[in-house]
Amino acid sequence: MATDQLAETAGAGADDRSDFDGVLRFYTLAKRAEWQVRDLAWGEIPPVPQYKGSPQKLARRNDLWRSVVTQQLQADEIAVEMASQLFSIAPDPEAKLYYTTLVQDEARHTEAWLKLVAEAGGMAERDPYLDDLGRMTLDADTLEEKVFLMQVFYERLIIPRFRLIARSSRGTILEDLCNRLAVDDGIHHGAGMAYERVLLMHAGDRTKRKLVQAAHRMLPVFVEHSLWRPKAARRWGT
Ligand SMILES: [Fe+2]
Ligand SMILES: [Fe+2]
Repeated sequence: MATDQLAETAGAGADDRSDFDGVLRFYTLAKRAEWQVRDLAWGEIPPVPQYKGSPQKLARRNDLWRSVVTQQLQADEIAVEMASQLFSIAPDPEAKLYYTTLVQDEARHTEAWLKLVAEAGGMAERDPYLDDLGRMTLDADTLEEKVFLMQVFYERLIIPRFRLIARSSRGTILEDLCNRLAVDDGIHHGAGMAYERVLLMHAGDRTKRKLVQAAHRMLPVFVEHSLWRPKAARRWGT
């Protein structure tokens, strides 16, 4: 990354960079909130909720949890790609610095989900709409659209879902992981809001219009994703 450029910025440079104070605050916050996959109580508590009952019922319940974990793994795999794209295209050194933490966070989330999916019995069916949403975000034309879709939109919407999963999986690795991810995505969303605000201050009408169009394109796919259930669950009518 452009460290010399950053050093220049940090010094009493020609232009005022105080617009980026918010972004830098989230950089500091992200560094402080960093955790490790090994911090979770692997092997001490169950990976996902355990039930009593007939083998069919157990298998069915476990398939549903595998599906929950698989979708989150899928989402974080897309998030790593998005984060590294944001890191490489963001022109502002403060934002680049912040994005180093986003790349690390999303990579760590993926590592944790991979370990959890293995402990829960393996991958389930992928949600095709989530892949569509990922592709649309990765292919978005402008930085303003990418920051908006990834950080302002998704990383805000995912937080209540993490809280819901955590409430339904007390005493498991899944609960702990979802609570950590809700905190991390709160930081990711806050940083995106702070950066998007600066970007839009300097954006023209055309960029702003494209942003609204991108949101409209995503919404129907997002609804499909919200309603999607794996084939197994559809068979059981859950
Ligand atoms: Fe994540
Ligand atoms: Fe995130």
